[in-house]
Amino acid sequence: MSVPMVFQAKAMTTKLIIWTAFLALFISISLLYFDFEYPNILHRQYSKNNETSSLGMKFQDAVVMRMPGRAVGPESFAFDGRGGGPYTGVSDGRIIRWQANESRWVDFAVTSPERDGCVGGSEREHICGRPLGLRFDEKTGGLYIADAYMGLLYVGPHGGLSTPIVTQANGVTLGFTNSVDVDQVTGVVYFTDSSTRFQRRKFVWAIMSGDDSGRLMKFDPRTRKTSVLVEKLKFPNGVALSRNGDFLLFVETTTCKLYKLWLKTGNLEELMEFPGFPDNIKRNRNGEFWVGINSRRGKLVRWVISNPWIGKAVVRYVPLDVTKIRGRGIGMGIRLDRNGTVVDVLEYGKWNEVSEVHEENGSLWIGSVIMPFSLTHTIPNSNNFL
Ligand SMILES: *[C@@H]1O[C@H](CO)[C@@H](O)[C@H](O)[C@H]1NC(C)=O
Ligand SMILES: *[C@@H]1O[C@H](CO)[C@@H](O)[C@H](O)[C@H]1NC(C)=O
Ligand SMILES: *[C@@H]1O[C@H](CO)[C@@H](O)[C@H](O)[C@H]1NC(C)=O
Ligand SMILES: *[C@@H]1O[C@H](CO)[C@@H](O)[C@H](O)[C@H]1NC(C)=O
Repeated sequence: MSVPMVFQAKAMTTKLIIWTAFLALFISISLLYFDFEYPNILHRQYSKNNETSSLGMKFQDAVVMRMPGRAVGPESFAFDGRGGGPYTGVSDGRIIRWQANESRWVDFAVTSPERDGCVGGSEREHICGRPLGLRFDEKTGGLYIADAYMGLLYVGPHGGLSTPIVTQANGVTLGFTNSVDVDQVTGVVYFTDSSTRFQRRKFVWAIMSGDDSGRLMKFDPRTRKTSVLVEKLKFPNGVALSRNGDFLLFVETTTCKLYKLWLKTGNLEELMEFPGFPDNIKRNRNGEFWVGINSRRGKLVRWVISNPWIGKAVVRYVPLDVTKIRGRGIGMGIRLDRNGTVVDVLEYGKWNEVSEVHEENGSLWIGSVIMPFSLTHTIPNSNNFL
């Protein structure tokens, strides 16, 4: 009787696989088309209505700035110490600078010496580089770049080809360097690697499978040492240092959580969970922070993420291109006070995929990792609020 039992077990396994595949397919299609938003409590609490933030800003008032050529995806912004910029990294591996007096973008730097076939697309981004987080060291005038494929790099004030600074930590190679901030007093650099297992193009896989290989790190240019501050993170993304350098705020995109790391004690606090997937955090000159929320997190996505076996099954059995899955609903900018508490929510109409909200000199610069443009907003009465 043992032989048929084996056959039976095999048939059961096949059935199980088929059912898992069906379930996974169903979930993927639902994720793609039908996921529903869950109520945005933050929005109700902090915005006057759906169109106007409590700063009195309206989405319609934003100025659209196209990226040059076929480039897309201004993911992050930086201003040099002299107020020049912004600078931003785009899909073909370039870092470009806004030349205000000529109203155009000019080339500033690249993260890879390889430029053949880079123009426009992202197919070759592992060769051409994909600069994400940017931050100037205002003392040296140089720019630190978190490139998704090339690690942490640095380029001098005149740009050109940047130099790799960190490509591994504790013997583990960086897989998806994402965000960077610099302590302007000590020169110490803080940065995140979202995953050592999944590259940028497979970010949806990292989220759905609950990958926890992400790390928050620090590079000290005086000793040239890199150290890991927090590991086993689920897609760590934006990181920002407090104004007096006592703590870091950072987010985990998979769990939508905001954390505060006290640098002296190493104490790690979980501050809150956002209603959508957080991307970059940038501090303004007043010591407050802006968090870019890429998209709302629907109920179904929330459920899948809290049950990583489902996500893994989707990734494994479904022939669907999961990189096409987009969050539904709208992007947001969330303003936090100096301690990391929410004080304002800015919604971007139907505009999805907000990567960064960057405040500089009375304006907000809104970036997105996939859009072919950035948005610029003037903050009404910004003198009153700063
Ligand atoms: C915002 O929009 C939703 C649906 O789009 C609507 O139900 C809600 O009443 C609106 N809220 C305000 C304050 O206008
Ligand atoms: C700041 O904005 C004001 C008004 O928009 C402008 O006149 C000034 O040149 C800007 N400063 C810098 C450093 O960009
Ligand atoms: C704009 O400013 C740059 C220097 O910041 C200068 O090299 C360039 O000639 C200026 N362009 C015009 C049209 O004035
Ligand atoms: C931040 O926290 C400190 C210490 O608890 C407090 O004194 C300060 O008022 C807080 N600042 C804000 C903006 O809430």
